[in-house]
Amino acid sequence: MNDFGRGWVKRLLSPQPSLLTMSSLLPAAIKGFWTTCPSFSTFYFLFAIFVVSTIFHCHQRLALVPAPWAYSAHVVLAPRHLPREGLFTINSKGRLGNQMGEYATLYALAKMNGRPAFIPVQMHSTLAPIFRITLPVLHSATASRIPWQNYHLNNWMEEKYRHIPGRYVRLTGYPCSWTFYHHLRHEILQEFTLHDHVREEAQKFLRGLQAKWAGQATFVGVHVRRGDYVHVMPRVWKGVLADRGYLQRALDWFRARCRLPVFVVTSDDMAWCRDSINNSVGDVVFAGNGLQGSPAKDFALLTQCNHTIITVGTFGVWAAYLAGGDTVYLANFTLPNSPFNMVFRPQAVFLPEWVGIAADLGQAGQNGL
Ligand SMILES: *[C@@H]1O[C@H](CO)[C@@H](O)[C@H](O)[C@H]1NC(C)=O
Ligand SMILES: *[C@@H]1O[C@H](CO)[C@@H](O)[C@H](O)[C@H]1NC(C)=O
Ligand SMILES: *[C@@H]1O[C@H](CO)[C@@H](O)[C@H](O)[C@H]1NC(C)=O
Repeated sequence: MNDFGRGWVKRLLSPQPSLLTMSSLLPAAIKGFWTTCPSFSTFYFLFAIFVVSTIFHCHQRLALVPAPWAYSAHVVLAPRHLPREGLFTINSKGRLGNQMGEYATLYALAKMNGRPAFIPVQMHSTLAPIFRITLPVLHSATASRIPWQNYHLNNWMEEKYRHIPGRYVRLTGYPCSWTFYHHLRHEILQEFTLHDHVREEAQKFLRGLQAKWAGQATFVGVHVRRGDYVHVMPRVWKGVLADRGYLQRALDWFRARCRLPVFVVTSDDMAWCRDSINNSVGDVVFAGNGLQGSPAKDFALLTQCNHTIITVGTFGVWAAYLAGGDTVYLANFTLPNSPFNMVFRPQAVFLPEWVGIAADLGQAGQNGL
């Protein structure tokens, strides 16, 4: 599917001829220095050329590669001729969870329609530091020259998406639904494999905990999304966030089923979690010493746990999808007349085997929580 992209990659990654020449000049210059003892300024001059050349080439490469860790996905230079059969890309909107949804949806729909898929540079910058994604990147200079046809997607699969018209198609929207890509689950999990160093950091943390529980713990990752949702959920969506009651019931669900559950809490509001999660049993651990971690670290930690408890948002949905164990989610968190119901179908977002616990809608539609 991505042979087109791979050709460009090879060209990009082929050695830079002048850099090689300069680096073979340097030893020669040093040897010359000792045998014929030229003036110090000759050596200095050659060394300066070497440094300038190196900086120049590094600069050129960094201009193409959005981040220094971009070793996994392929970076594409401006293609001289675009693939005749056309290509698909997708908008890069939102944060980590949204972009994962966009990536996976592009991957699946391009495959279904028999087109090569390219991701925008911004998406590569968000995902490549964490995952071993493989879709090639469309340089923004190229992207801006392509006569795109936008194609809007709802947040659930529809029959018509199997035959999307147009050659250069930019999918738009915030798709994050297993109905697009669950039939390719193994490929999607492969795409979202963590880089070794990211995985190892999470594993190290869990090994430390496992030592305290004599190797008997079952890890339940807990993601509590608050942040801007504290205002957006009641005001815009006429809904509620997870409250103490939900978290108590969700934790108790696992306490009733696992012999020695250990709950690993991540959140964008750790202070609220420390105040609100009942830890009388002593089986709750707040990740990062109770301080908010980076999204990448939190995400990696959740995926390495055995089971998941999520609240709202695509970040948690993806963490649960990748962790792959049992998942408890907050269900029915908006009022029946919520505009959220126009863009969100719970059965297209939560896998059928996940367990929903209904939200307490008592405060829905009020101006805060
Ligand atoms: C705290 O959790 C324990 C264990 O689930 C439960 O027995 C207790 O009633 C809870 N306390 C409160 C105040 O909810
Ligand atoms: C639970 O997760 C830990 C940490 O990732 C892992 O070492 C262990 O094998 C998992 N247990 C099961 C039963 O999958
Ligand atoms: C959510 O609401 C629907 C429709 O009223 C209902 O069928 C479903 O059981 C509810 N889910 C939970 C987890 O309570």
